[in-house]
Amino acid sequence: MTHVPVMAQEVAQYLVWEKEGIYVDATVGEGGHTLYLLKSFPRVRVIGIDRDNEILRRACKNLARYRRVTLRWGNFSELRNILYKEGIKKVAGVLLDLGFSTFHIEESGKGFSFQKDEFLDMRYDRKESLTAYDIVNTFSAGELEDLFYTFGEEKKARRIARAIVEARKKDKISTTQQLREIIERTIKRSSKIHPATLVFQALRIAVNRELDHLSKILTEIPELLNPGGRAVIIAYHSLEDRIVKKTFRNLKSQGIWTIHTPKPIRPAKEEIATNPRSRSAKLRAGGKI
Ligand SMILES: C[S@@+](CC[C@H](N)C(=O)[O-])C[C@H]1O[C@@H](n2cnc3c(N)ncnc32)[C@H](O)[C@@H]1O
Repeated sequence: MTHVPVMAQEVAQYLVWEKEGIYVDATVGEGGHTLYLLKSFPRVRVIGIDRDNEILRRACKNLARYRRVTLRWGNFSELRNILYKEGIKKVAGVLLDLGFSTFHIEESGKGFSFQKDEFLDMRYDRKESLTAYDIVNTFSAGELEDLFYTFGEEKKARRIARAIVEARKKDKISTTQQLREIIERTIKRSSKIHPATLVFQALRIAVNRELDHLSKILTEIPELLNPGGRAVIIAYHSLEDRIVKKTFRNLKSQGIWTIHTPKPIRPAKEEIATNPRSRSAKLRAGGKI
């Protein structure tokens, strides 16, 4: 397995309250969290879902020896339908470990990272039509600025957007390295993060409509849970975490939800040292009353 599951022990602690329940790992990836749950709880059943069928094939291999797991290709925003097809109306818990996996950066070849030289695709699901290439080469300067500002919280969005529009007059921007070079030429950053980080984040979120899907599933989760059922969400940037925090508060104010983590849980120092990707993770857990 290329990807190391983040806060696996904490996930299990907050998620599993019914030792014989059905749990949904709605972002199963290569199966890291699911494997941990299946090993730790010999009677739980897991429905694993991923939007990327290439990574799902890896999960199939990694989890092949377990009969208590069912893997399905799909978007978690369609969770109700996915469960319906399995003849399941309600479950004991839902896990969302948001964003992309190490596989996407290291091996997918889809242009998620500016450290690689790949075509600007960034779709988890190749059935979708919009790619990062389309956005970078067809959006107006104003649309690009909005996108970088909204999904990347990039303060220098306008300068970068204008530089992209200027550069593409000469040649289409097809690869991660072309885009990286344009950004490096245009802005300097005093902080530790690379100048291209926020633009790449924004493109990935936009291509996959990540925040829309997150908002949809969060409002639907309570009806898909048994009373006492849990939702555990791991977010990796403030845009996602804000949506989780607000939705949990909103559900609580309706009297149908309880918040198990008054403050988000962060990985221990030891985990961050061995798995640096975990450093930005924030885990929030809630449950249906
Ligand atoms: C951080 S990784 C999950 C890693 C996994 N928990 C593990 O430990 O191996 C996130 C996964 O969610 C998938 N994903 C992202 N958005 C999704 C969506 N809307 N529906 C289903 N899967 C999604 C990605 O393809 C990726 O494989």
